[in-house]
Amino acid sequence: MRLQDKVVIVTGAASGMGVATARLFAREGAKVIVADVLDVEGNRVADAIKSDRGEARFQHLDVGSEPDWAAAVAATLAAYGKIDILINNAGVSGSDPDRLSLETWDRQMSINAKGVFLGMRAVIPVMQKAKSGAIVNTSSISGITGQVFVHMGYNAAKGAVRTMTKAAAVQFARDGIRVNSVHPGLLPPMRTSVLSADPKVRAGMLKAVPLGREGRVEEVAYANLFLASEEASYITGIELPVDGGFLAM
Ligand SMILES: NC(=O)c1ccc[n+]([C@@H]2O[C@H](COP(=O)([O-])OP(=O)(O)OC[C@H]3O[C@@H](n4cnc5c(N)ncnc54)[C@H](O)[C@@H]3O)[C@@H](O)[C@H]2O)c1
Repeated sequence: MRLQDKVVIVTGAASGMGVATARLFAREGAKVIVADVLDVEGNRVADAIKSDRGEARFQHLDVGSEPDWAAAVAATLAAYGKIDILINNAGVSGSDPDRLSLETWDRQMSINAKGVFLGMRAVIPVMQKAKSGAIVNTSSISGITGQVFVHMGYNAAKGAVRTMTKAAAVQFARDGIRVNSVHPGLLPPMRTSVLSADPKVRAGMLKAVPLGREGRVEEVAYANLFLASEEASYITGIELPVDGGFLAM
């Protein structure tokens, strides 16, 4: 098993890529904290892992809340005594038809950008003490390029995730902590998707994907697994697109 006895926090683990990552990591031997604002769905994910004979606990966590992070770290340490891996996956969509909405800008910054910073801020001191840790931050193709149907606040927040990943990688490498980002392309719509969930818009988006199809959530989970595992022990500060070739066009 690739993550035997590792303790991992996966944010946004009640849906989509977070569920796929939590389930895959549990199958690889990890003890998984399923963290999300969605209590019912999150508990269901943890229960499903346990009924597959994996180890998991649900933790209510709003990634934009510092007290929630403190509580999540305390609960994880109380349950398992360490935190080996953080998957900063939670996020909200930027496919807002009002492209100049200030409310959307603020929401993007407080969840998609600040949420990732708060996660690193909460777990890095624990990893520093252990002199070991792996963090994978979920950015997007939108963190690298602009798109006509995405609010620029989403691009800005995901761009912030890309560069804060590199900053954290160089600042905490001597503590034995690796930090990398994953950049999904066209995946199934997010719960909060508006424009990008529209079949006509999606058909147009698919034309820009060399592999000619949308990605599967498991394909992102496997990228998270590789970067979180010892197989990536000499890899830090990289950005890994999982986008069917979109960014190569
Ligand atoms: N779906 C895509 O096409 C796509 C493409 C590129 C990047 N991404 C990114 O991948 C990540 C996962 O997206 P997904 O497609 O699985 O979406 P999803 O909507 O299915 O899942 C996102 C999860 O994050 C949770 N979440 C939202 N706000 C939160 C908060 N404040 N605190 C804690 N949890 C919160 C939601 O409850 C949900 O469970 C996101 O960061 C997203 O921006 C998605």
